[in-house]
Amino acid sequence: MPWKTLDDIDFAGKRALVRVDINVPVEDGVVTDTTRIERIIPTVDDIQAKGGKVILMAHFGRPKGKVVPEMSLEVIAPVVADVLGLPVTWVNSDYADAVAAMEGDEVLLLENLRFNPGEEKNDEGFAKRLASLGDIYVNDAFSAAHRAHASTEAIARLLPACAGRLMAEELGALEKALGTPERPVVAVVGGAKVSTKLDLLGNLVTKVDALVIGGGMANTFLAAQGINVGKSLCEHDLAETARDIAQKAADAGCEILLPRDVVVAREFKAGAPSEVLKTEECPEDAMILDAGPDSVAHIIQVFERSKTLVWNGPLGAFEIEPFDAATNAAAAKAAALSKDGRLISVAGGGDTVAALNKAGAADDFSYISTAGGAFLEWMEGKTLPGVAALG
Ligand code: 3PG
Repeated sequence: MPWKTLDDIDFAGKRALVRVDINVPVEDGVVTDTTRIERIIPTVDDIQAKGGKVILMAHFGRPKGKVVPEMSLEVIAPVVADVLGLPVTWVNSDYADAVAAMEGDEVLLLENLRFNPGEEKNDEGFAKRLASLGDIYVNDAFSAAHRAHASTEAIARLLPACAGRLMAEELGALEKALGTPERPVVAVVGGAKVSTKLDLLGNLVTKVDALVIGGGMANTFLAAQGINVGKSLCEHDLAETARDIAQKAADAGCEILLPRDVVVAREFKAGAPSEVLKTEECPEDAMILDAGPDSVAHIIQVFERSKTLVWNGPLGAFEIEPFDAATNAAAAKAAALSKDGRLISVAGGGDTVAALNKAGAADDFSYISTAGGAFLEWMEGKTLPGVAALG
């Protein structure tokens, strides 16, 4: 690996500035999912075990360079303390004094970095101010590594820098999935719109052996083949692009799997009356909301002959039943194959993880990334500035 890890650095008596991503979902002032906080435990514990002090730096929401009280990390601090099982002090001023006063295994959490306009501008001056608070920079925020911000990029050039445990784990898992994977590799890409995943599809067709396209995106590909998709979500203006991607896949020897049958309904709501039809038979007044059982059987066959799976995006309107069936069935199969050691499965992206959790499949996947946008950019083959800065 081109970057250092915690094992390469002597933390004894040193102050470690640790960039973490604790951008967790909060509803009515309550943190509803602590996964991202749980995943930083190994890094915090390791640094402390090596005799270092931990100063956490993080963002929360998108306050755009202004102080937005609802986006203060103050409400997150007690949850971080709880999850880490350590005293966590949140600070929003006099940082240097707070660092000097740190005692025992106390962890410091700096106020939302994005309250300062210098953060998102990757401002050297702001990075210097942050750097002055520590001796070593540790980046454990893979899920924010697609941002070139002061705390993810500029600061890495100002202090001895290394990857935290979570960052190293994420990069290791992703490398196994698309860098040097065991073949055949299958990718599942779903979600509403082709337009948000053009780069992703373009990159994947050159890297994987089979590509399953699901969700609203599949409709655009079907329509591009002249299939009537009725009132389905569909980007008709991208027909040409969809045909180009299909051609690129054919040239690269990548098999594209589109739905063979579909679940259609007249209304987009839970429990709406629905029927399974051949893909070509979608009525004018209906919309495709899920892939049908034949499509799922085909996907499962491909999973069975694959060694590696990368998954981003649901196959249907998974938020509402019964249109979660294809996603659930395919996820269950991937989970079972992974559990049996027959498949390396890596998934990422906000909706994806929610869908796999809902399917009860996430625990048996080989690796679930904490990243949303960063996972996508990595799958697009882009260089992530936060990772590059560590090299
Ligand atoms: C995320 O939630 O994906 C990361 O925390 C990055 O957040 P951002 O998209 O606001 O940069």
